[in-house]
Amino acid sequence: MKNMSPWWIRIPLIFFVIFGLTEYFIDSGSSEPAFIEYPIVLGFLILVLLILIGSEVIVKSIENVMFQTLSDEAKQKYLEKNTKKWEWKWGKKTYARLLGSKPMESEEEIILDHDYDGIKELDNNLPPWWVYLFYASIVFGVVYLARFHVFNDYNQITEYEQEVAEAKIAIEEYKKTAKGLVDANTVEVLTEASDLKAGEKIYTTSCVACHMADGGGGIGPNLTDEYWILGGGIKNIFNTISEGGRDGKGMVAWKQILKPLERAQVASYILTMQGTTPASPKDAEGEIWREEVQ
Ligand code: HEC
Repeated sequence: MKNMSPWWIRIPLIFFVIFGLTEYFIDSGSSEPAFIEYPIVLGFLILVLLILIGSEVIVKSIENVMFQTLSDEAKQKYLEKNTKKWEWKWGKKTYARLLGSKPMESEEEIILDHDYDGIKELDNNLPPWWVYLFYASIVFGVVYLARFHVFNDYNQITEYEQEVAEAKIAIEEYKKTAKGLVDANTVEVLTEASDLKAGEKIYTTSCVACHMADGGGGIGPNLTDEYWILGGGIKNIFNTISEGGRDGKGMVAWKQILKPLERAQVASYILTMQGTTPASPKDAEGEIWREEVQ
């Protein structure tokens, strides 16, 4: 059998491949690696290690036993073959070809008659790796020149502008999918029917008890008039819903219960009730709110 690598490379190599695979496929569900999170994985890995060592020992001893059965001549042959070091023939040949230097035996052929205090000069060819690179750089230079100086394909400024435009599109895209990422500073009135419908649903389940179905008010103030105790406009309303009203008034903070998007939806829904006439409106409380003129 030809030994490609000694056991002390083989065992760790196989072991770490298996270790890597377990970490890759078993999701530990936390920042800890899987073999710490699940003791069974650790057990499995130890078992794998034992099996690897065990099989090396077994193979070695079988080889030993077989060796004893060989004739002297065959033993000799076997040892010779085993001690021969493995070489990467193709790699060596390619390396030599790329260097392009003459083997030392035939250096006589290319020696020059320059002689400086016994130091002589060889007339070697340019190394092919260098020559190929040089040709490649010429080709690259010609293509580059034609592309950017003759046909003016693009320059750094257009490249930059293109990337900025792409990033802007990506940001818009992201904002669409991340509606829930709102807070009192960034919230805007939602106008899509689906959002208002969701807002109405939240209002009906959580808010009618104190504000009435038509927003006319009860324990809580009237939400249909233009008077606001805690400030009108989407940002203030969102903030009131999130943080609650003044202490002891009964309006709790909903931020633990409703998600940001849900708070934005119900706030937008409340704004649709502005100017409607409830069945039994509560008297106006607070001050008239005017959206600041931008
Ligand atoms: C337990 C009764 C109660 C419930 C339920 C309730 N509120 Fe209120 N709400 C109040 C009271 C009382 C106030 C007045 C707070 C104050 O004066 O500080 C108020 C104030 C408000 C205000 C501010 C009004 C203004 O004039 O500034 C908004 C907006 C509001 N509530 C929205 C909601 C929404 C949305 C819900 C449902 C998610 C809700 N409320 C559920 C009692 C309630």
